[in-house]
Amino acid sequence: MRSSGPAHAHKIPKPEIAVVGSANLDLVVEVPRVPLVGETVLGGDLARIPGGKGANQAVAAARLGRSVAMIGRVGDDEGGRMLRAALETDGVDTSHLTTTPNTPSGVALIAVGDDGDNSIVVSPGANSRLSVTDVEAAADVLDAAAVTLVQLESPVDAVLAAAESAGGVVVLNPAPAPSSPLPAKLLEAVDVIVPNQTELALLTGHDGTVDVAVAADSARQLPIPTVVVTLGALGALAVVEGEVSHIAAPEVEPVDTTAAGDSFCGALADALVRKEPIVDAVRWAVRVGAATTLRPGAQPSLPNPAEVTSLLGKG
Ligand code: RIB
Repeated sequence: MRSSGPAHAHKIPKPEIAVVGSANLDLVVEVPRVPLVGETVLGGDLARIPGGKGANQAVAAARLGRSVAMIGRVGDDEGGRMLRAALETDGVDTSHLTTTPNTPSGVALIAVGDDGDNSIVVSPGANSRLSVTDVEAAADVLDAAAVTLVQLESPVDAVLAAAESAGGVVVLNPAPAPSSPLPAKLLEAVDVIVPNQTELALLTGHDGTVDVAVAADSARQLPIPTVVVTLGALGALAVVEGEVSHIAAPEVEPVDTTAAGDSFCGALADALVRKEPIVDAVRWAVRVGAATTLRPGAQPSLPNPAEVTSLLGKG
C-alpha cells in the first residue's frame, strides 16, 4: 500500500527529542466508577481528545520547552487530521508522521472514574502500520536527537529499529504492558526503562503487580543500567546500577490520571536533554506527572513549567 506524509508537515532542523510511537483519538466518558466485567455504567457526555502514548509524550516534552519530532502514523480520516494538528499546535515536528490511506487512526476508549482512575481499550489502527522502513526514513532525526523516547503501542520491530538507530539516550516506556517477552536486543539498546508496577511485574515474570517493597529488587533483575519505576501517588524509584533512590510525589487529589505516565516520560526526557542528574530528572518527572492528574484529558492536561508551579506550588 502506498502511503505518504503531508506536503505541509511541520519540520524542525535538529530536534532534541525523537518520539517513536502512537497517536490516538481518545473517546472519553466520565463515569461514577469504572465498570466491572459484564457491567454497564451510565456516564457523562462523550469527549474527543488528542492522545496516544507517543503523541502525549511528544507534546509533554514540547510544552516543557524542548524541540521534538514525532515518528508515527495516523489514518487518513478526521481523527488523523485532528491528531496531526494537535501536535503541530505544540510545535512538534510532524515530517515523519505518515498518513496511512484506507486505515483508521488509532482510537482509545477511556472511562474515567470520579476518583480520577481510568480504564482504557486501544484500537491501534494506523499505529499498527508503523514499519521499520518508516523508522529508517527518520534515521537522521534519530541519530541527532539527544533523547529518543519509545513505548509499546507501536509494532515491536519498529520500536527495536528506533532504539538501535538512536544516537542519544534511549528511554523505553514499556506501556501498555507487553503480553510476550521483549526481544533481548531491545533491552540491550535501551539506556533507561520506565515501567509502572504492573509493567515491571510482566517484565520480570511476576503475576499482577510488583509491591513497592520489592520493586527495587525486581528492577535490579532487568538488564538495563537505569530503571525508573513509577509508583503513582507514591512517586517513583530510580534504580541506577543497582543503587536505589525513592522520590516522593506531592500530595494531590487527582481529577484524571490519563497521560500522567506520559508526561512523566516527557519530563524525564526534557531533564535528560538538559543533562540533569538522573535523581533530579526523576524528581522533575514526578512533579510534572502529579500536575498532569489535576486537569482532565490527555494532551489538554499536560502542563508547561509555569503551570507545574501554579498547580503544585514551588517544589
Ligand atoms: O497513556 C494515556 C494514553 O493511553 C491515552 O491518551 C490513550 O490514547 C492510550 O494510548
